[in-house]
Amino acid sequence: MSIEIKTPADIEKMRVVGALAAEQLEMTEAHIKPGISTGELNRICHEYTINEQQAIPASLNYRGFPKSICTSVNHVVCHGIPNDEKFLKQGDIINVDVTLIKDEFHGDTSKTFIVGKPSILAKRLVSICKETLYLGIQQVKPGNHLGDIGHATQTHAEKNRFSVVREYCGHGIGRVFHDEPQVVHYGKPGTGIELLPGMVFTIEPMINAGKATVKLLSDDWTVVTKDHKLTAQWEHTILVTDTGYEILTYRNDDTIPRCG
Ligand code: MF3
Ligand code: CO
Ligand code: CO
Repeated sequence: MSIEIKTPADIEKMRVVGALAAEQLEMTEAHIKPGISTGELNRICHEYTINEQQAIPASLNYRGFPKSICTSVNHVVCHGIPNDEKFLKQGDIINVDVTLIKDEFHGDTSKTFIVGKPSILAKRLVSICKETLYLGIQQVKPGNHLGDIGHATQTHAEKNRFSVVREYCGHGIGRVFHDEPQVVHYGKPGTGIELLPGMVFTIEPMINAGKATVKLLSDDWTVVTKDHKLTAQWEHTILVTDTGYEILTYRNDDTIPRCG
């Protein structure tokens, strides 16, 4: 297995597309309100991508996916399909996952928004999930291994009595949307490939309030928790630098440094 090392020119392009994906999530925030449909969120993001960002929505028609973003509400783990009949209500949690292409390169990022006033559980799940992403990111430096990332994310989730989804994982990214390596969110320190400067991959933990088991619905996209309990996800696209990490999809509401 060989993992692509990006050139300085590639990295510059990935910074540009990463910033666009991040900016799109910032733009989306203002629209997350009770009463809006996930179909409407998709339309807003699609138009913004094409008209304001002059970029391409990578998810649209990707392996047959029918929409430009993924919207995963409450017990939907990932790959929720935007729908004009699905309206957000007070207390829902919704992950919006945006992947853009600009100048051949992909930027992939998601966050879980809370609609109105959350339950105590929803608030705790969403914030622990964000912390697991950040702890994973803090393991990114040359000489560390993929297993260090998985160990950090798993440990934090399970310490808080939540569980880590096994079936879906982070991935290498660049000209290819889903490239090697697979970045799983569980594991043992020191295992897996060694991280080298110039590698770019996503970290995107899916954390369940109940059991880790998931189920694929008959639309062949929507993934739900088998026990129908709540689930959350956060995702960033990360560059391994000479000394640590750089978050290529950094937003103004992130609460760790962009580089470390
Ligand atoms: N953005 C998702 C990821 O983080 C992949 C979505 S594929 C789609 O890897 F087809 F569902 F959009
Ligand atoms: Co991804
Ligand atoms: Co994504």
